Amino acid sequence: MKVLGIETSCDETGIAIYDDQQGLLADALYSQISLHADYGGVVPELASRDHVRRIIPLIKQVMKQAECSPEDIAGIAYTAGPGLMGALMVGAAVGRALAWTWKCPSIGVHHMEGHLLAPMLEKNKPTFPFLALLVSGGHTLLVDVPAIGQYKIIGESLDDAVGEAFDKTAKMLGLGYPGGPVISKLASAYQAKNGKISQYKFPRPMVNRPGLDMSFSGLKTYVLNTWTESDQSEQTKAEIAYAFQEAVVDTLTIKCKRALKETGHKQLVIAGGVSANQQLRSRLNELAQTTPLEVFYPQAQFCTDNGAMIAYAGLQRLKAGEHDGDGFETTPRWNLGDLNPI
Ligand code: KG4
Ligand code: ZN
Repeated sequence: MKVLGIETSCDETGIAIYDDQQGLLADALYSQISLHADYGGVVPELASRDHVRRIIPLIKQVMKQAECSPEDIAGIAYTAGPGLMGALMVGAAVGRALAWTWKCPSIGVHHMEGHLLAPMLEKNKPTFPFLALLVSGGHTLLVDVPAIGQYKIIGESLDDAVGEAFDKTAKMLGLGYPGGPVISKLASAYQAKNGKISQYKFPRPMVNRPGLDMSFSGLKTYVLNTWTESDQSEQTKAEIAYAFQEAVVDTLTIKCKRALKETGHKQLVIAGGVSANQQLRSRLNELAQTTPLEVFYPQAQFCTDNGAMIAYAGLQRLKAGEHDGDGFETTPRWNLGDLNPI
């Protein structure tokens, strides 16, 4: 069964074809980063217009790459939310129109279910049940996952998402958009040169309170104040990037440890754009060396937004008999915990 996946929830047009026998057959991505870079963040109207421009050529490209004709496609999965309304509507409209012409079912997929299942695209994949840490530009969630489609949110950020904190911090330091990769690069360079020594130690928010919720907006303000009062040299900028990343990674590691203890899970999935962060990965891998734990994450290209994770998640739901009705729905806000179990 081959499913065409369409991702257009934010600033990446991602298209892929996933086959339940052969795995991923084709995957293509157009990133709008350069389009939004001058504005320091995603401009929704520009994002929608660019998805319109890119989507058909990318679909043609993956169909060719996978050597598929329309009759080979058993279903079409598109991101139905959460995300930017206009951007979501491009993928949904094209996906549904194609399904109608190609006489196959379509399904609207939850973007974060796509991220959560992205490690399933790898050879070494987790088995249910597991704990998932979902860290993206819009979400920071700790999810207890007993089975596919059953997502119990046990912790979340009360304000900024982790990726958002990276992006805002990078903007304050004049490092451009998106912030995660630049901060991470600067922090690694700092550590390579200076070791793990820094005059700055930023707060680890909410770690001294019980529970699994998180907060990152105060940390961002702390960074801003530190930067404003500093000499604003390049060395200081790198040191602040390092100290910021340390604070975030420490906080996430502490919360994961706590959630693993609470749930008793021995497998941890990390997914979403921030799961590409090497420091976060190595800290969680270190944890796995001292406790009975296995950590799973997608390869770098499937940490950030992509069509493959949407094709995979859509295929699971289509296989279970789910598909769209005649109503057309895209949902900018959509709680992962509200999904139907498969
Ligand atoms: O999952 P994603 O592509 O889009 C959303 O669903 O939001 O995540 C994008 C976020 C951005 O905030 C970006 O700065 C962050 O992921 N990100 C990273 C890294 N790569 C991307 N954050 C930290 N370290 C990275 N290496
Ligand atoms: Zn995403």
